[in-house]
Amino acid sequence: MNRIKLVDLQRQYDTIKNELREAIDRTIGNTDFILGSEVERFEKNFAEMIGIPYAIGVSSGTSALLLSYLALGVDPGDKIITTPNTFIATVEPLILLGAEPIFVDIKDDGNINEDLIEERIDNGVKGIVAVHIYGKMVNMKKIRAIADRHNLFLVEDCAQAHLAESDGVKAGNFGDISCFSFYPGKNLGAYGDAGVIVTHNKDHYEKLKMLRNHGRKTKYEHTINGLGERMDGLQGAILNVKLKYLERWTKRRIEIAKIYNENLKNIANIDLPEVKDFEHVFHLYVVKVKKNRDKILNYLKEKGIGAGIHYPIPLHMQPVYYNRKYGKKYNDLPVSEDFAGRVISLPLFPEILNTEIKFLLKEFKNAVKKFG
Ligand SMILES: Cc1ncc(COP(=O)(O)O)c(C=O)c1O
Repeated sequence: MNRIKLVDLQRQYDTIKNELREAIDRTIGNTDFILGSEVERFEKNFAEMIGIPYAIGVSSGTSALLLSYLALGVDPGDKIITTPNTFIATVEPLILLGAEPIFVDIKDDGNINEDLIEERIDNGVKGIVAVHIYGKMVNMKKIRAIADRHNLFLVEDCAQAHLAESDGVKAGNFGDISCFSFYPGKNLGAYGDAGVIVTHNKDHYEKLKMLRNHGRKTKYEHTINGLGERMDGLQGAILNVKLKYLERWTKRRIEIAKIYNENLKNIANIDLPEVKDFEHVFHLYVVKVKKNRDKILNYLKEKGIGAGIHYPIPLHMQPVYYNRKYGKKYNDLPVSEDFAGRVISLPLFPEILNTEIKFLLKEFKNAVKKFG
């Protein structure tokens, strides 16, 4: 058993248990099981927090992406530019729709290299999906300009980037449509699957509301082909409670990242993430070691420290995609491949204790000195 987990959700529950129990009982009492008043309240509260007019509660981050791609008219054969350093859910729905992901290499911080995007754009390219990986903002000014110049749609995958911002504008405001996940371990996590889609565009909003709910106009009048991808009332109620704490929790994440950087800055053979307030909201604190990543991880495991790897295999090298035409054979991405072999995510969650931070830093330094 790890003494320090990568993420400890029990601790957060303990701090807000009474409020959560009350919200759960109330929702069940109202039999508000699918959509309903709690979800509507959450959509309003979340949209307000992000500073955007429209939010649509859905069943997961993956369904948020699928519905967004449907709303933007992704068709078989369309090419969509994205990053290989992301969770597979960014790309799965594109493949389901018959589209072809074009993987562009990444930069030192793990995000897509915006300077390599334009050389991959041809007539078949219809859109760009930008992912703020680990909670670090992609350079959206540049990518928005590229999308506009080439008349491409832009989706932001903000699954790891709740409250992240660039020049005071929050993630979710740059895309034509943007998607958030509330997977339990995310910076804002539900108690099951849930997600939300946000947009400035009223037409997208109206269409997405229908797409998530069987293309319904009225209960049994279906005007477009949709799906059943709605947010549960219980998740809406839980998220309404947790949303009040999100800013406080995010500040604590950034504070912990600063402590990590301060303590690790003089250690040889590791690269640290840059900490800029709210430009990175530290869903994950990811460092790069020079060598022996697996030995370092094993050492930490033996000490009871639950470090992770995000992600060990870039998407263009995943077995499921490897042999397809967008796999490695056609698409060498040297920075991504090197990156995947060197990254380590250290435990980071708002409730981690300073004594635990001290212990894990001491052991991480020992491991790097021994093997790195
Ligand atoms: C970058 C990214 N995109 C999409 C998803 C999919 O979200 P979900 O697990 O809520 O379906 C996740 C998280 O799981 C993610 O980290």
